[in-house]
Amino acid sequence: MTLAQTHPLHAHGTHSSRLIRALRGERPETTPVWFMRQAGRSLPEYRALRVGTKMLDSCFDPAMASEITMQPVRRHKTDAGIFFSDIVVPLKAVGVDVRIEPGRGPVFNAPFAAAADIAKLTAIDPAIMDELGEPIWEGVRRTVAMLLEHGGSDGVAATPLIGFAGAPFTLAAYLVEGGPSKDHLGARALMHTDPAAWEALMTWTAEVTGRFLRGQVLAGASAAQLFDSWAGSLSARDYETHVMPASRQALTHVRDLTYVIPADSDGTPATERAVPTIHFGVGTGELLPLMHDIGVDAIGVDYRITLDEAERRLGGGVVLQGNLDPAMLAAPPAVLEAAVADVLQSGKSAPAHIFNLGHGVPPGTDPAVLTRIVELVHAAQ
Ligand code: CP3
Repeated sequence: MTLAQTHPLHAHGTHSSRLIRALRGERPETTPVWFMRQAGRSLPEYRALRVGTKMLDSCFDPAMASEITMQPVRRHKTDAGIFFSDIVVPLKAVGVDVRIEPGRGPVFNAPFAAAADIAKLTAIDPAIMDELGEPIWEGVRRTVAMLLEHGGSDGVAATPLIGFAGAPFTLAAYLVEGGPSKDHLGARALMHTDPAAWEALMTWTAEVTGRFLRGQVLAGASAAQLFDSWAGSLSARDYETHVMPASRQALTHVRDLTYVIPADSDGTPATERAVPTIHFGVGTGELLPLMHDIGVDAIGVDYRITLDEAERRLGGGVVLQGNLDPAMLAAPPAVLEAAVADVLQSGKSAPAHIFNLGHGVPPGTDPAVLTRIVELVHAAQ
């Protein structure tokens, strides 16, 4: 498969953007920066646009999803957009009764905890995602066109769009509990009380979420991030046995998708590369090597360990993304500046570093603080 068939944005230059170069392990002169949850309630323009529209309805509205994705890119001049959607969107797309409650998160009409409920869920053919995801693919296509129009954060390469999906465990943590939970005990128990039902749930979820990710890349996203936000509640042993195979399976859906680095005038021939992948979790300091072993280009690190400690645990040579503590966004400017400098310094232990927070932007954040961080990161040596 060639770039022209699968991946129009790269043809327009995202292969040389700071983000994509960093994901290749190069170290651009300027560190790329974006923020998890950069789109959302911290922005007044987001709050204004969302009035009267439910969260999940906005995700299925291509005009709204693309406009919301662009808002933080325009305002903060980040080095990437992340497509505005949610990890439960693919579940909703294939007909699962799910809603997002403000201040709470995804809630299901009924939990998928018993073997019979799981059998009913997994009877849905994951392949219908490809067709039912059309409003999402259209949202991505529109966003990519808007990003091209917008230009690049460095004034040269186009700004890349990151597509994303929830990892099977994090989705299962919601499905089994029927909503948000503290320690995901229901999901962690199911893998031991009924391993066959657990495996069926994980395999099905991997297929649906993998197709959600693939569709975004085919529609023009330049990189793919897998969010296993709640994997930190697992032991390394359970992660390896009961979770890792499904996360790996989800990513098989983007493994064959490539982009082309054009031939250079110095005689370097054109090269074809796999679409870059990032894997992130919260509280996953004990799982980092396993999370890398599913086969990803970069690891997203939360704020609980430093980037150099993460690099040490990974054995070196792994591109890192992270990891300013979101609590720092409320700190006095001098404290924030020192914390940004610390993260940049610690990131030098990695072959390349993508600056980000250690988790999502809190809704009450002053957006001017995020704009200031982008300036600080771009000005740093
Ligand atoms: O800008 C971006 O980062 C892109 C958009 C994005 C959203 N959700 C939009 C959203 C992304 C990448 C996600 C992923 C997501 N959703 C994760 C993984 C990342 C993480 O934060 O750990 C998880 C666990 C979810 C599930 C979820 N959806 C939660 C916990 C919530 C928050 C509930 C709340 O009100 O605090 C949501 C809703 C959600 N997803 C919002 C946004 C902007 C808030 C909805 C609103 O504006 O009312």
